[in-house]
Amino acid sequence: MKLSKTLLLLGAHCGAALGQTNSTNGTSPAIYPLSTDDFFSFFLQEMLAMSASGGAATGEVLRAAAQITPGDFESVYTEFKFLADSLHSTATSINVTRFPVSAREAYLRAASYYRASVFFLVGNQTDPRLFDIWDIATSDFDIAQSLSAIPGERVVVKGDGFDIPVIFWKSPQSPDGPVPTILLGNGYDAPQEESYHELGREILDRGWNVVTYEGPGQPTVRRDQGIGFIHDWWTVVTPVVDYLETRDEVDNQRIALGGISFGGTLAPLAASKEHRIAAVLAIDGLYSLQKSTMSQFPTDLTALFESGNQTAFDAYMNAVLASPQAPTQFKWFIQQGLWTFNTDSPYDWFTRLGEISLNEEVLGNITCPVFVGRGQDDDTAGGQEKEVADILGDKGYYHEFQTALGAGEHCQLGAESQLAQVTMDWLAGVFEDIS
Ligand SMILES: *[C@@H]1O[C@H](CO)[C@@H](O)[C@H](O)[C@H]1NC(C)=O
Ligand SMILES: *[C@@H]1O[C@H](CO)[C@@H](O)[C@H](O)[C@H]1NC(C)=O
Ligand SMILES: *[C@@H]1O[C@H](CO)[C@@H](O)[C@H](O)[C@H]1NC(C)=O
Ligand SMILES: *[C@@H]1O[C@H](CO)[C@@H](O)[C@H](O)[C@H]1NC(C)=O
Ligand SMILES: *[C@@H]1O[C@H](CO)[C@@H](O)[C@H](O)[C@H]1NC(C)=O
Ligand SMILES: *[C@@H]1O[C@H](CO)[C@@H](O)[C@H](O)[C@H]1NC(C)=O
Repeated sequence: MKLSKTLLLLGAHCGAALGQTNSTNGTSPAIYPLSTDDFFSFFLQEMLAMSASGGAATGEVLRAAAQITPGDFESVYTEFKFLADSLHSTATSINVTRFPVSAREAYLRAASYYRASVFFLVGNQTDPRLFDIWDIATSDFDIAQSLSAIPGERVVVKGDGFDIPVIFWKSPQSPDGPVPTILLGNGYDAPQEESYHELGREILDRGWNVVTYEGPGQPTVRRDQGIGFIHDWWTVVTPVVDYLETRDEVDNQRIALGGISFGGTLAPLAASKEHRIAAVLAIDGLYSLQKSTMSQFPTDLTALFESGNQTAFDAYMNAVLASPQAPTQFKWFIQQGLWTFNTDSPYDWFTRLGEISLNEEVLGNITCPVFVGRGQDDDTAGGQEKEVADILGDKGYYHEFQTALGAGEHCQLGAESQLAQVTMDWLAGVFEDIS
């Protein structure tokens, strides 16, 4: 799952945008109503989007959508857990020697639905389901991989004080390489397995290697190592690049780093110090999540944060979280922040979120071309994408994905083929220019 339109909706006016279907020419909302809770709609759309690559099936997700009670986090758990258990049970009943494809596809979707079932449970960081069900999801995903023609290979790369889980998929066209390699990282909430569904299969189809990773704060590192987000993201990427250079399948001159959602901040940040990266994909360009979030705060909340009074800021945020009127988006965004930053203080979370930002010096230190994407209807970054591209100057390549073509949502949700076409064709050109 990706960080979403949450920010726009932090205020009380949430929900108003839903149901207004307008022209087909770029001004209509990019979220389609799958629930009267518009954040649930976004989340369900993310689930639907994975159907193009075997991570979901539309009928299954739409059935769950019809059963889920708007705003009720436990009902998301119940419905997706039901689907996951059913598919898991189907998968385990299949003779994998005779029917490996049937088993693989069922395991793959069970894994997605298990992950989805716990998406809204982060409000209680000790809820055992966050851990137990994640383990089943991971195991099902790995069984599916073992039944694939191109099985993802799990590797653990050592970071300084943390381990970095990595999955390596070899190019099906040149399995011995060396070929270009795309290293994909997610953002505020999504696991690396989702990167596979989002862009991974598209990249393999183009004959390149795909590698995914997770750093501190991201789902498996947060769960297994109890480590929250860190600002020096290059300390995650550099050991992975060191590792990639040891692999014969990798063309060391042609390693691109993709960052999805909040990864649109993390990837450029890493590339500002890791100069072996040949190109960066910022999907989308996010200058500062703290700034774009703050621009949605009521003025008294901004003033409270800026006053540095942690007790008062925490009390304000906790009161809003406890309020039954708090919009789902707001609740989830804060709860997810506390979880991924491994803290119980909203002030601590929000302060540290600000430390993970781009600035002119960081962008100036990047030495490779940077693709900066934007969804036409995506307000997550509040227009920062253009700002990032402008600061990058000649190094930047800006592209706006169109709402009229269904690609205007955050990270081009549901239009991954368009995202892949534009980004991968651009990358091919960058790679060709490298001598
Ligand atoms: C649709 O867009 C037009 C032009 O921007 C606007 O005048 C109209 O009020 C909109 N309709 C709805 C239902 O939002
Ligand atoms: C739709 O958008 C295109 C490009 O922005 C513009 O040329 C065209 O006139 C628009 N059509 C309508 C019906 O608004
Ligand atoms: C699974 O299928 C294989 C190949 O047809 C067969 O040899 C094996 O006995 C089957 N296993 C079970 C448990 O039925
Ligand atoms: C969080 O989950 C734990 C374990 O299930 C439970 O004991 C505890 O009561 C929960 N806390 C809250 C605030 O619901
Ligand atoms: C911080 O806020 C609390 C609660 O609003 C207040 O009691 C306290 O005096 C404030 N502290 C400072 C240093 O302003
Ligand atoms: C940019 O690069 C210079 C030269 O290597 C370095 O001194 C500086 O700390 C870097 N700035 C940032 C923000 O990383």
